[in-house]
Amino acid sequence: MKSVRAFAPSSTANLGPGFDIFGLALDLFVDEIIITKKQEQNGRITISTIKQNQGMKIPFDNENNAAALVVKKMMEDYNIKDNIDIQIIKGIPPGYGLGSSAASSVATAYAFDQLFDLEINLSNLIGYSAEGERASAGAKHYDNVACSMLGGFTIVRHFPSLEFIKFEPPEDLYLVVGIPTIPVPNKKTEVARSILPLNSSLENIISNISNASTIVAGFAYKDVKMIAKGLDDKIVEPVRKKTIPGYDKVKENAINAGALALTISGAGPSVISILNTDRHSHSVMKAVKEGFAASNIESNVYLCKPSKGATNQ
Ligand code: HSE
Repeated sequence: MKSVRAFAPSSTANLGPGFDIFGLALDLFVDEIIITKKQEQNGRITISTIKQNQGMKIPFDNENNAAALVVKKMMEDYNIKDNIDIQIIKGIPPGYGLGSSAASSVATAYAFDQLFDLEINLSNLIGYSAEGERASAGAKHYDNVACSMLGGFTIVRHFPSLEFIKFEPPEDLYLVVGIPTIPVPNKKTEVARSILPLNSSLENIISNISNASTIVAGFAYKDVKMIAKGLDDKIVEPVRKKTIPGYDKVKENAINAGALALTISGAGPSVISILNTDRHSHSVMKAVKEGFAASNIESNVYLCKPSKGATNQ
């Protein structure tokens, strides 16, 4: 028996106009995965442990567990017949738009690669990690897995072939994350994707491309104010915010308290606000909490920074 342990961070996807393209790794929560190669060779995958905090629930069955989906695909592609055991120590609350399935998938792909000395490059490991996203999103999307694997801010280029571009975030980038404690549906991301429009006006598309470009420029110049300017999204946010009670109030409060911008984290219901100093962080945290409370929603609010990517410790 041989085991490898890996860790991968939480993340926020989209950053407003960068739907399925932008991701930022966050040092807020971490998932830990231990992959063990057993002696028997029946090609079986077992999930022996899932340690999770109260209220967190992720599926144990192989068809619906992100880590198991990743292992299954890697075993098929590399013709591996050993029995594999997966232990999952969840730090990231699943279903709240903080890259929970992505982190488990990334840590799994990272550990599995080392366990069998496969020497798969990081881009292809991101590809394997995206297999796990099918568990919660019903489809592969690469924004959370790319940043959780590589760390920092990442851009997913889809056509003509997949490519991942990484930027080191500015040192003075701070984020206030608000997690409303509302129930979320099973396969929440799939549900949150099903309500999105399939088409948009040219005006909205131009506005989003312009803002997305501004975000990239902000990361290139390491200018947090410029990043924040680009967060406005005309296509996804107007639809998804309806699933987040009190969203407009939370946003107004955060900005009045000194946040530079606020948007939905990934598919929600968490929100992220951007700050270029931690000086206002307490007021912004309080403002976000009060914004949710105005709709009788409790929330947990945190201050965090960008994170490095997957590691063994
Ligand atoms: N880009 C994905 C979505 C991220 O918004 O559906 C899910 O965390």
